[in-house]
Amino acid sequence: MSAVPPVRPDLRLSEGYHSPQVDAEVRLNTNESPLAPPQAWREELQAALAEVPFHRYPDRPATELREALAGLHGVTAAEIFCANGSNEVLQSLLLAFGGPGRRALVFEPTYALHSHIARITGTGLIEGGRDDQFRIDPDDAVALVSRPAEGPDVTFLCSPNNPTGRAEPRETVAAICDAAPGLVVVDEAYGQFGPWSALELRGPGQPGLVVTRTFSKTWAMAGARLGYLVADPVVVSACEAVVLPYHLSVQTQLAGRLALRHVPEMEARVAHITEERGRVAAGLADLPVDTWPSDANFILFRPRRRDGDAVWRSLLDRSVLIRNCSSWDGLHGCLRVTIGTEEENDRFLQALKESL
Ligand SMILES: Cc1ncc(COP(=O)(O)O)c(C=O)c1O
Repeated sequence: MSAVPPVRPDLRLSEGYHSPQVDAEVRLNTNESPLAPPQAWREELQAALAEVPFHRYPDRPATELREALAGLHGVTAAEIFCANGSNEVLQSLLLAFGGPGRRALVFEPTYALHSHIARITGTGLIEGGRDDQFRIDPDDAVALVSRPAEGPDVTFLCSPNNPTGRAEPRETVAAICDAAPGLVVVDEAYGQFGPWSALELRGPGQPGLVVTRTFSKTWAMAGARLGYLVADPVVVSACEAVVLPYHLSVQTQLAGRLALRHVPEMEARVAHITEERGRVAAGLADLPVDTWPSDANFILFRPRRRDGDAVWRSLLDRSVLIRNCSSWDGLHGCLRVTIGTEEENDRFLQALKESL
């Protein structure tokens, strides 16, 4: 008789990574774009899908999509790897460069999937910290990456950092890249909101610098599941070697390629969300909460007089769903709100006022 064996003992403690998909009228919990992609993109995609030979596998190396992304960034297609969301990009990096006997360095609190994917790929974890403004101390970071015989194979940075909001200063990332013995992966899921990009640091002196991006946030295409990295061709080949064959569907490839025809609309969306972020930040400043500055499409805040968890529940009672980080290490009592439409932001601010 067959049996279900126990799951890998190193996975048993992990609950996985879930943002609860609770029903709510105002959903500001997963940092998606509140605005839909352009109608013209939708029509172009529908027309292109009508011509797809669905009985054939998709183009395995996603040539046209990679060439279009290479054009966007002024690099070659050999420096681009695409996958189903940047999470699959991160997983491919750790399958290729992490694993048993290897170590990944993260600076907590940061995007939970960096440590989660390290665990599920059997990669050892080194945890760095941040100061009370959630900044990485460059000297501490350089000391951590330079530890003799214990340096990380992969160092994760997240800029702007989720869930705290700030972009890492260019000098910090440059110092870490100069000292790191292995890959430095800069997760720029919110890159277009930030003041600068680690892509600017790429060059012959930094073969281990990897920048990851996603279509889920600024491109307003979370449902399409598409992310990519820009890196040395050696890194790209290693990711291609570990990812499953034909992992990127023809629909995903088309969706991404056609989206790149609409760069101005994406930039206008980013500008609009940034303006709304200013309005939400001003609204929060009038309430009894501490906030942290944001270079992304969300704001981290902490109620001063009420328990974060209770405030989160009270917002949900008013059908406003935000991210409850109040029990996460280093984020005691904190909540994170995604910037929504004007109407959603007004609903959030009113509900928060009542909840506080
Ligand atoms: C910092 C960061 N990286 C990566 C991702 C994953 O994005 P994707 O939808 O491309 O898998 C997210 C999603 O929230 C994120 O916040």
